[in-house]
Order: sequence, then structure tokens, then C-alpha cells
Amino acid sequence: MPSSPATAAPHFEFRSAERVPETHAWSGLDDHPSVEAAAADRDVVPVVDLGGPDVVREMARAGEEWGAFLLVGHGVARGLEARVEEQVARLFALPEPDKARAGCRPGEVSGYGGLPLADHFSKVMWSEGYTFAAAAIRDEFRRVWPHGGDQYLRFCDVMEEYHREMRALGVKLLDVFFRALGHTDDQIAAGETERKIRETLAATMRPILYHRCPEPERTIGLAAHTDSGFITLIVQNLVPGLQLLRRGPDRWVMVPALPGAFVVLLGDLFQVLTNGRFHSALHRGVVNRERVRISVPYFLGPPADMKVAPLASAVPPGRKPAFRAVTWPEYMEVKHRASDMDASALELLQ
Ligand code: SIN
Ligand code: FE2
Repeated sequence: MPSSPATAAPHFEFRSAERVPETHAWSGLDDHPSVEAAAADRDVVPVVDLGGPDVVREMARAGEEWGAFLLVGHGVARGLEARVEEQVARLFALPEPDKARAGCRPGEVSGYGGLPLADHFSKVMWSEGYTFAAAAIRDEFRRVWPHGGDQYLRFCDVMEEYHREMRALGVKLLDVFFRALGHTDDQIAAGETERKIRETLAATMRPILYHRCPEPERTIGLAAHTDSGFITLIVQNLVPGLQLLRRGPDRWVMVPALPGAFVVLLGDLFQVLTNGRFHSALHRGVVNRERVRISVPYFLGPPADMKVAPLASAVPPGRKPAFRAVTWPEYMEVKHRASDMDASALELLQ
């Protein structure tokens, strides 16, 4: 495994860079569709209306074909996105020593700069991130603002509101997917497995700021990966940069920045839970010359001690489940191992 400059807090001065330095220059990046080119692409990222009459069918189709979609009709009041973005922009605009104090400690994922996938690359990504458990927002951000104060309170209030709204929305999405798997209303409301998943969901957030870049085609904001948990919900500012990989022939498709919509990405453990009926989406973050992009992914997954196995409803009668049961930490071990071997983690679970 290459030693990683990216796990430490990135002290690189993105704002004043006139060129992409060697530390941040990635090779093997394929073509880089511009926003205009992506808009004309024949692949259109599905838009699902959570309040629409066809939601079960639409979401099932998006989950099967893309592992991702844009969600509208979700009932979250407009304005929250702007407040989340504002707080995230203020967090990353803090002086370096404040952010460095909250730097991710060795062996841990949470903190400024925390990005589990950074360990697998020798190059540094063109972004700043901060990973934290949603349940620990106030404790975590005492590291940034040790004396509390207004800035600290405003940040925590807005992020906690985002956490509450996204968690409730995530539960609704899970219910729709359960319906798509044939679960009845009674099962969804009172079924043992459904209830356990809903009640124990663990949430993590990772705000990311992608700086403007003088040579966007030579670097990457966030390297290609799949998310590992069940479901990721993302609020992004109106600057596109999230791309999804479409297969055959392989191509990257830009997710449009649709005002008021959340991006939904399915994760690897959701693929396990649904026995592969719905799949995780390979995605990456690209940067551009003109505008700063902010993205605030909210990850929902099982608690660390829960074994995730394919739901009985998703396994065809008489067949064996497609994956063995794993906890999230066990799965991360498999994923790190797979990445070092250039293999697919989900295939190692079969
Ligand atoms: C992520 O994959 O965690 C972030 C995606 C994005 O930049 O929107
Ligand atoms: Fe991701």
C-alpha cells in the first residue's frame, strides 16, 4: 500500500495554485466530459418523484439500472440545502491551524481530511473533506471551535437538522425499496428485520469542498469508488462534478445539479442486503476551473455489530444467497484487501 499524504490534513494551498503539482497529478484519468457534453449525453440520470404514483416502480428501476438517482418530491423544505452549504463553506474557510487541530488521527476515519479510500493512492485528491459520525456532531466540532460560541452553535444546529431530515428520508427510501422487494405494509411497519434496520441505522457525514483547479483534466477531486453502506443522500451546490460510471462501453456521466433535488447513491451493503437486485454505483468527483463545488454526502448503513445478509425476500426460492453475511467493519477489511489486489470486494463475498 503506498504511503498516503492524503490521510493527513491537506495543507496544500489550493486557492493560489497556478498549476497542478506532481503530488496532485493523476495519470490514467480518462476523458473528462464537460458539463455541456454530459447534458447532451444519451444517458440521463433518472429523476424519481418520492410523492409520485409510480415511485416503487421508478425507484426499483433506477436501483437496478443505475444504483443512483436524483430524488424530488421528498418533502424536505427548500432552503436547508443553502444553509448546509453555507455552514460547510464556513468550516473549510477557517484558518489552517483550526482545521489542523481537528485533523484525522492515524488509524481513525473521523476528522478533517478523513477519507478511507485515500490510503490506496499515492496521489492526493483536489479537495478538502471532513468525516464525522452524525451522532457526535457537537463533540466532534469542539475540536474545531474549542470554546463553542455562535459559529460553533450555528454549524451544529444546521448539521443536526440536516441529519434529522436525511435520516427520516433514508428510512422512507428503504421502505420503498422493501415494497419493491414485495414486502407488505404490515411487514414494513412491524417486520422484525425491517424494524431492526430502520431503528439501528448509523449515519456518517463527509462534507467535501472541491476547489477551483487551473488544470482540471490532470487531477481528480475524488477518486472513483463505490460507497460501502446502504444508502447515501447528497446535497450539492449548483456546480456539477459528481459522475457515475455507465458500462458497455464504459463512460462517465455527469449528475446534473438539479435545484432542490438530492442525489441518492446505493452502497455495497445494500447490494448484499438485496442479494444483488439493486447495485451500488461507481462514482467519482471531478473539478473545474471556474467554480468551487460543495457536496455534503450523508451515509446511512448498519451499526458496526450487525451482520448484513441477503433478505429472504430477495433470494429466489430454492437458490442460495449470492453473498455471505458480513458486518460493515468486516466488509471494509474485505474492501481494502480487494483494492490492494485490484479485485472486486463484492465478488470476494460471494
Ligand atoms: C462522495 O462520493 O462521497 C461525494 C460525491 C460528490 O462529490 O458529490
Ligand atoms: Fe462516494
